[in-house]
Amino acid sequence: MQQIADRYPQSRSALLPMLHLVQSVQGKVTPEGIELCSELLDISAAEVSGVATFYTMYKRRPVGDYHVGVCTNTLCAVMGGDLIFDRLKDHLDVGNDETTADGKITLEHVECNAACDYAPVMMVNWEFMDNQTPESAVEAVDKLRNGDDVHSTRGPRICTWREAERVLAGFPDDLADEGPAAGPASLAGLEIARENDWAAPGAGARPTERPEQATASTAEGAVEQADTRRAEAETKGDVDK
Ligand code: FES
Repeated sequence: MQQIADRYPQSRSALLPMLHLVQSVQGKVTPEGIELCSELLDISAAEVSGVATFYTMYKRRPVGDYHVGVCTNTLCAVMGGDLIFDRLKDHLDVGNDETTADGKITLEHVECNAACDYAPVMMVNWEFMDNQTPESAVEAVDKLRNGDDVHSTRGPRICTWREAERVLAGFPDDLADEGPAAGPASLAGLEIARENDWAAPGAGARPTERPEQATASTAEGAVEQADTRRAEAETKGDVDK
């Protein structure tokens, strides 16, 4: 915990990752964890508690080995998110924000994860499972309960919720670059811009230029080229490790 606090010029900025670390060890935000954060950051327990109860990623009840969040926000809902959530509720015999009797799966409906281009989306421990159906969702949770490997549709093998919480606390598991992070649907706009020779005002490079052909004349342009190059590499699944 102290290691996290030491990363920030103002130690109270460490509260969010510290709460994730509490969850990775204790499976939820405990009174003991709140006291420790308060002590280390020299803020009141009420302030820590206020943050922990404000953000939905912090849990006051124990989470199962896998947190399954089904997006039921507008686009995902109309594309099948509501059906997926209802099917999982029946299949797992739990309600919203409840955990299966074997302690394996916690089901929760979640808000938009900015992955609408792959709706309907399900998140398992905050890894994307894109273009889901009720059947694929049931298959994924059954595999997780059986201890079989499940891979995010554009990320790594799904780890446990506690392991994911440790990563969110700032202790990488070196899996961040495993699998493509930006799929074709996310890059469709970029491709259309290239075909039509469109560019954003003030952009450092024309969209029809390959990043290696363009010469950035500004710092912003250089950043844009780097972002484009990385997105393309990730789409091909060959991002540098
Ligand atoms: S509405 Fe589901 S990811 Fe945006």
